[in-house]
Amino acid sequence: MSAPLPPLAAIPPDLRTLSDYERRAEAHLTPEAWRHIQEGAGREITLAENRSAFDRIGLLPRAMADLTGSTEIGLLGRRHASPILLAPIAYQRLAHPEGELACVRAAMALDTGMVVSTLSSVPLEDIAAAGQGMARELGRAPAPLWFQLYLQPEREHSLQLVRRAEEAGYEAIVLTVDAALKPAGMTLPAGVEAVNLAGMPRPRQTSVPGGRILLGTPLTDAAPGWDDLAWLREATSLPILVKGLVLGEDAARAVDEGADALIVSNHGGRVLDGLPSALELIQSVAEATQGRVPLLLDGGVRMGTDLAKALALGAAAVLVGRPQMHALAVAGMPGVAHMIHVLRTELEAAMAQLGCPRRDLLTPDRLVMLGGR
Ligand code: FNR
Repeated sequence: MSAPLPPLAAIPPDLRTLSDYERRAEAHLTPEAWRHIQEGAGREITLAENRSAFDRIGLLPRAMADLTGSTEIGLLGRRHASPILLAPIAYQRLAHPEGELACVRAAMALDTGMVVSTLSSVPLEDIAAAGQGMARELGRAPAPLWFQLYLQPEREHSLQLVRRAEEAGYEAIVLTVDAALKPAGMTLPAGVEAVNLAGMPRPRQTSVPGGRILLGTPLTDAAPGWDDLAWLREATSLPILVKGLVLGEDAARAVDEGADALIVSNHGGRVLDGLPSALELIQSVAEATQGRVPLLLDGGVRMGTDLAKALALGAAAVLVGRPQMHALAVAGMPGVAHMIHVLRTELEAAMAQLGCPRRDLLTPDRLVMLGGR
């Protein structure tokens, strides 16, 4: 089998959409990395649903509208140039030697927020410094950088991660609660590792007496519980977003326990196969939380019209996952910057074509189910 192609030095003109990046990316990755990035859990029903949920919704433009506006939003006390953020993606050096450093520079160049994973393959401090350096070079304030926390078996280690994130200048903590029992990932190649967790014990399924498989093993014992959210609320004054809640009831409880925002997500279809799309779930979460906190969403977002649909259904902002890895593999930092630019351009075009040039004008009455459903 031939070795993966090196990243392109320039963006060719036929790379115009996120799908173009996805099509090209396979040739720039090892087969193992490609499979790891693309795969979903089980029979990939949820993975497919994440895309088809968008495709089932149609758009109704308002004719001859005033097109004065912008994509700018306010979120958790901060201005965002657009309602797009980069979702936390582990081990970005699987896609490119610069990994998270390339991604954060691209995000800052495009004035776009980024969520850095606990499982980043570059230290979280170096990522923040690279982002801040890029913003300085451009002579503007850095776009928001958030730290995604996977709770560690020992609270002192989770706390160390939170303190390191605070000191490095991260502006919020994203607590992911849906992935403690994710199916085992790929074996990482040499040089790609969870550098932030060096020296910390990892939650691992160990054989225990009595023939236990998962339940009652250290792995399930380390899974996040409600007491962990209460603990985190006490431990940091940074805003907390909880990622991976899907039931309205759980969402309302998280807000009661101090969450400042929620990210409605099925983890890109990678954990529990059979979960509905985030697009479907956000509607019941919105009903249960009654506008008390902003709701963000991820899963399957690949073009500007997807963004418009998510916003019209109540998402305050939207995160993009796999396309980061595709663009990173194809063309490194310029690739990711171009990918974000494409999405932002497509969102502006969709908003203009819909006659909704501001976020608040994107409302559910702009949407229709296709095929007469
Ligand atoms: C993820 N995701 C993820 N989420 C998280 O909270 N922490 C993490 O470290 C990771 N790592 C990760 C790696 C890879 C390869 C993928 C594909 C996903 C989930 C991610 O943040 C997001 O929820 C989904 O990727 C969104 O779906 P799309 O945009 O990939 O369809």
